[in-house]
Amino acid sequence: MPVLFTARLRLEPLDESHLDGLHAMNSAPEVMRYISGEVETRAQTAAMIARVQLCWAAWGTSWWALVEMQSGRVAGAGAVQHLRREATAPADLEILRSNPLELGWRLHPDFWRQGLASEAARRMAAFAFDNLAAVEVLAVRHADNVASARVMDRLGMRFRGLERWYGKSLATHSLTKAEWQR
Ligand SMILES: CC(C)(COP(=O)(O)OP(=O)(O)OC[C@H]1O[C@@H](n2cnc3c(N)ncnc32)[C@H](O)[C@@H]1OP(=O)(O)O)[C@@H](O)C(=O)NCCC(=O)NCCS
Repeated sequence: MPVLFTARLRLEPLDESHLDGLHAMNSAPEVMRYISGEVETRAQTAAMIARVQLCWAAWGTSWWALVEMQSGRVAGAGAVQHLRREATAPADLEILRSNPLELGWRLHPDFWRQGLASEAARRMAAFAFDNLAAVEVLAVRHADNVASARVMDRLGMRFRGLERWYGKSLATHSLTKAEWQR
């Protein structure tokens, strides 16, 4: 599983050592506002780490912890993963392999508005295009999530409309490899 670097971040494939930092983030209402609308318990975040580890094994890509190198803190989490249409994940993750790849991000509020989501997003896009041979990546957000829309814009993504992903109608943005290379 690849550890990636940016100027300020080390991207570490999620494991149990990230539980405290992830729980601090996922239990903050302002973080979850446009994701599920509900904060996560520590047990739910632990279960998420276990699911993510299955995704890494199945696809060779999933969520990383975004560790701020200066402080050593878990600043957030970022993903390159296969999208799904349904609200819940199928038992057989292989089924999702034919779905497009998405980029995802979330940060603890202590780390907002410092350009870190954009920094992680650029590195994850490079991973998708260079290491996974993706020809296009998507990103989806709640229509009111302006902060996430800005990260998508800064990455050069194009808004392509409301689409059904994760059982919801979500604003969907795309970036092709050719656009990325320009
Ligand atoms: C979305 C999120 C990851 C953005 O992280 P960030 O590190 O603050 O973003 P960046 O610093 O890279 O900023 C990107 C742009 O968004 C702008 N921005 C950041 N937060 C904003 C906000 N709350 N409202 C409006 N614009 C915002 C920045 O000013 C910057 O704009 P610029 O391009 O004009 O310079 C962060 O707000 C977050 O974790 N939110 C909660 C979780 C979430 O919703 N994740 C996304 C799910 S789709």
